Amino acid sequence: MDDRTYIKSHIRTVPDWPEPGVQFRDITPLLQNPKVFRVLIDQFVHRYFDVRPDVVAGLDARGFIIGSVLAYELNVGFVPIRKKGKLPFTTVEETYELEYGSATVELHTDAVKPGDRVVLIDDLIATGGTMMAGKRLLERLGAQVIEGAAIVELPELGGADKLRAAGLPLFTLVSFE
Ligand code: PRP
Ligand code: ADE
Repeated sequence: MDDRTYIKSHIRTVPDWPEPGVQFRDITPLLQNPKVFRVLIDQFVHRYFDVRPDVVAGLDARGFIIGSVLAYELNVGFVPIRKKGKLPFTTVEETYELEYGSATVELHTDAVKPGDRVVLIDDLIATGGTMMAGKRLLERLGAQVIEGAAIVELPELGGADKLRAAGLPLFTLVSFE
């Protein structure tokens, strides 16, 4: 089995959660198994080792899990983009629509420097709203988002295409139709 198929086989689909009609793609079985977790992280490490970003930025909350390990392995800093009300210092914020509901995310104003090359990571891209908001926040502080990365993309929701059309290159490992 190739690595992407191995990774996909450890993502659990939970129907009708958190509301009817949503097929929730649950990554916890991936994290729970040390062998597949290492295969997963290695995919991102290999992708970005030679790229040498200045920063890895992770999206709240599941983007923190893989983003912080990736930053550690690349020996670069990790920056959290958090849901509103969690960051204590001065912030910039963006509001966006989700597959279910809406949300506001924030970033500390000193999290990145102008010109920083950033890899922006999350577990999953659905409508693309979360990653687009993260990109905007980083760009408002003068950083350059060189690529968005995620374990999963859901093509039928159109988010990944929307992000690519907005000029953000994407690296994803698994897709669910
Ligand atoms: C999920 C997921 C992504 C986002 C993707 O997070 O982890 O961050 O939704 O959806 P989008 O592409 O439509 O924006 P959620 O907001 O459920 O938060 P959580 O990580 O705290 O569970
Ligand atoms: N975030 C937004 N949509 C999702 C889905 N279908 N599964 C897991 N996380 C999500």
